[in-house]
Amino acid sequence: MLKIGFIGWRGMVGSVLMERMRQERDFHGFEPLFFTTSSVGAGGPDVGQGAAPLKDAHDIGSLSKLDVIVTCQGGDYTQRVFLDLRKQGWKGYWIDAASTLRMEKESIIILDPVNRYVIDAGLKSGIRNYVGGNCTVSLMLMALAGLFANNLVEWLSSMTYQAASGAGANNMRELVAQMAALGKASGKLLENPSSTALEIDRLITGELRGGRLPTEYFGVPLAASLIPWIDRAVEMGQTREEWKGYAETNKILDTKDPIPVDGICVRVSSMRCHSQAFTIKLKKDVPLDEITDMIHSANEWVKVVPNDKESTIHELTPAAISGTLTVPIGRIRKMLLGPQYLTAFSCGDQLLWGAAEPLRRMLRILIEHLG
Ligand code: HSE
Repeated sequence: MLKIGFIGWRGMVGSVLMERMRQERDFHGFEPLFFTTSSVGAGGPDVGQGAAPLKDAHDIGSLSKLDVIVTCQGGDYTQRVFLDLRKQGWKGYWIDAASTLRMEKESIIILDPVNRYVIDAGLKSGIRNYVGGNCTVSLMLMALAGLFANNLVEWLSSMTYQAASGAGANNMRELVAQMAALGKASGKLLENPSSTALEIDRLITGELRGGRLPTEYFGVPLAASLIPWIDRAVEMGQTREEWKGYAETNKILDTKDPIPVDGICVRVSSMRCHSQAFTIKLKKDVPLDEITDMIHSANEWVKVVPNDKESTIHELTPAAISGTLTVPIGRIRKMLLGPQYLTAFSCGDQLLWGAAEPLRRMLRILIEHLG
């Protein structure tokens, strides 16, 4: 029976992965082993086969007995353990949520509803590292898969509205703590029906600038504001998050002629849904109904939202989509720029399709492949 080790299963992405695997009854047909970086010997989770003590996630000896390792532990862990394991001759499969190995030649970025052909070719040719993509890129590709599959995208610009969860669990807490502090500060004015919006704004702006809000993780207030910078600077004035748009999209699709993808990545105060506004230059003028059909039929999770106010405000928001696998795309229309220019807006749960779900599905694909 295959031995499959799970590392980082208690963190945010790991917890979502565990939840999804339980929901889909994935814990069968293999022996699951749970590892820890902090509490070796403590009780592990019972996923239907009884609980066993947690094993040491740094013990190369135990890890090298595994057929598959699934890690959501983060990039530092991958950096520390992966090379040692391979150096010792470990030939198992490494499924990882972290970005560390994504761009390596010996890695495939996994998003099977979009690039199953790349995954299958990788398995056939003996590739053993399968890495989840950047959340924004994965969600963009889930939404626009139909256009890429029909080779219609000449270039693409994505302006993003990224949730706090993408920055981490502490950032989510900090965002809500900032909201709570603003709520508390403005409580009296809100209760007073004769207070004006400008008075409330003055008070909120004072709080945003007053240095009293919790900002340990974001560095500045996000609630009632936004942050047009995600990750560190790279070349040409881009951030690394923006660079991933181009690099990862082309690697996921295995394009022969790279498709330019660029934009500005912005952190906003949603909890776990990343949204994106696209400007797409099509390779040719295609009627809008055909475009809509292509987008709609690309996979079972993408959902075209009619371009009207009621549908948009109820179906195309983080509030509507959080915690679901649906990837809505709406506001689809040709732009005044010309008939080959398309715009659209999409939204998706950053912890599901953006992180845990491609890993969960890759594990199923792998078990089938190895079985
Ligand atoms: N880097 C992303 C973000 C999340 O900061 O929102 C992980 O892909």
